[in-house]
Amino acid sequence: MCGIVGAVAQRDVADILLTGLQRLEYRGYDSAGLAVQASQGQVQRLRRLGKVEALAEALAQTPIQGGTGIAHTRWATHGQPSEANAHPHQSGPIMVVHNGIIENHSELRQQLQQQGFEFQSQTDTEVIAHLIASFRQQGHALLQAVMATRKQLTGAYGMVVMDEQSPEQLVVARSGSPLVIGAGIGEHFIASDQLALLPVTQRFAFLEEGDVALIERRSYQVFDSQDQVVERPLVESTVEHDAGDKGQFRHYMLKEIYEQPQAIANTLEGRLENGQLNLEALGDLSQVEQVQIIACGTSYHAAMTARYWIESLAGVPCNVEIASEFRYRRSVVRPSSLLVTISQSGETADTLAALRLAKDIGYQQTLAICNVPGSSLVRESDMALMTRAGAEIGVASTKAFTTQLVALMLLTVALGRGRQLSTEQEKDIAAALAHLPALIEKSLAMNSDIEALAQRFAEKHHALFLGRGSQYPIAMEGALKLKEISYIHAEAYAAGELKHGPLALIDAEMPIVVVAPNNELVEKLKSNIEEVRARGGELFIFADEAAGLNTEGNVMVLPVVHCDNRIAPIVYTIPLQLLSYHVAVIKGTDVDQPRNLAKSVTVE
Ligand code: F6R
Repeated sequence: MCGIVGAVAQRDVADILLTGLQRLEYRGYDSAGLAVQASQGQVQRLRRLGKVEALAEALAQTPIQGGTGIAHTRWATHGQPSEANAHPHQSGPIMVVHNGIIENHSELRQQLQQQGFEFQSQTDTEVIAHLIASFRQQGHALLQAVMATRKQLTGAYGMVVMDEQSPEQLVVARSGSPLVIGAGIGEHFIASDQLALLPVTQRFAFLEEGDVALIERRSYQVFDSQDQVVERPLVESTVEHDAGDKGQFRHYMLKEIYEQPQAIANTLEGRLENGQLNLEALGDLSQVEQVQIIACGTSYHAAMTARYWIESLAGVPCNVEIASEFRYRRSVVRPSSLLVTISQSGETADTLAALRLAKDIGYQQTLAICNVPGSSLVRESDMALMTRAGAEIGVASTKAFTTQLVALMLLTVALGRGRQLSTEQEKDIAAALAHLPALIEKSLAMNSDIEALAQRFAEKHHALFLGRGSQYPIAMEGALKLKEISYIHAEAYAAGELKHGPLALIDAEMPIVVVAPNNELVEKLKSNIEEVRARGGELFIFADEAAGLNTEGNVMVLPVVHCDNRIAPIVYTIPLQLLSYHVAVIKGTDVDQPRNLAKSVTVE
């Protein structure tokens, strides 16, 4: 999704803006631009289609000096990717960068055209620039012009406005799309996420829904949706390390896959000590009679896995739904339900909207499982269980997923206590979790075997992933990873479902990836594997050696470390992540920023 950076400083800010944009590249975008204003001087704007690199080259040829500036990476929604549609958008002295969608842009465009404003782009954003300019023409100061403008907008926005006639000021507004203010010494910054600003500050203030702020070099002032002054205090950043560095790795995705043992250990810290699970932070869940989980994409797959755990281990009914479906259907709220949202970013528009709807329709207790402290989801939920994966830069989610699963296993235990989960079972789960970082290390040792195997996928156009029970969502996640970074069409099926249709797809050209731990379903899974073998499919099976799989024929079995079946979904995720990564590298795709995708989907 679009990335925003802004600065009001005494020094030149073009390089700070550019670095900020580079650090937001992971969010996904198709064009980039910036505008800088010298004090009392004219605003200069530069925009390029394509990567931030192209903007950096243009800036190197035409350096722009000045201490106030705004910058943007655009992920096209209204209007194709082009230089004319790239931000900042201009209306006379006004420059605007915007993240979100203005839903009533067509009618506003018509009104503004009737007033004589000429449009240079096909974007919804340009109406904001002209609206602010029209209020300025009526004599409003910049801040008041933005406040008046937002009252006319329907939709979502995080926006930053610069005005040639108000140098050394930026006005920002948030409704639906997050913005953080960064404080330096005698300078202030604004960005759509902290990562953009970590090279210049560690102190941030988080804007809330409906806020407007006036940002100047030495101060910032925030107003709520009623235009009343409100405090949004500065806090030290909790982003532990500067994740904007790939280190020895070729891609962020690979780095993040390898960070999983540490990310899981961090997620367990303080929650698992001396073999005991400390789950007090989750409060009293003894009254919960039903769990409803809502999430999107990879986070939805974590939710699907948790459903198996929560029902079989804790004995609590659990329902899982994709946020974009939940938010547009009338669902029934059962009494004493716990509403759980799962999100890496905590800013996914559909998940946030679903949470808000859930509260409106009567859910009394809400829990967010999230990786970003201070995110909207965390702030708007009653409780939060943080995943502590550290910043995830690769668009394809990896360490966020496995740490979500760890958090969900903790939730399962918290729900199961006092119900059907025995003390003995809890002890076994605690022991398995304690062992998990080491098991993930062992799974990572499969890397070179998987790299070799990946060659066999590079020429394929389709693939099937099979699993059963709690491994079915892991097969779904494996298929999603392959699709999103290698662009190979992949589908996952619960293996027992094959005979109801998908078996028709099997021939010698179809690779079939199977996840096969040695659990209570393995004999059933073996029968499903035989159904595929009999039809000549090319099988790649990630299996526990103790499962005793038949290796005859067109079958490759890759042994996975033996582990407790309750945590096996987490362990079996690793080889599937590595497989999709290596296939994508062989295919030469943009692994960290796959086409058409955004890291954090802050629009509907
Ligand atoms: C896939 C992926 C997406 C996200 C989805 C939800 O690798 O990353 O499917 O999982 O967009 O994002 P969050 O978890 O931030 O709500």
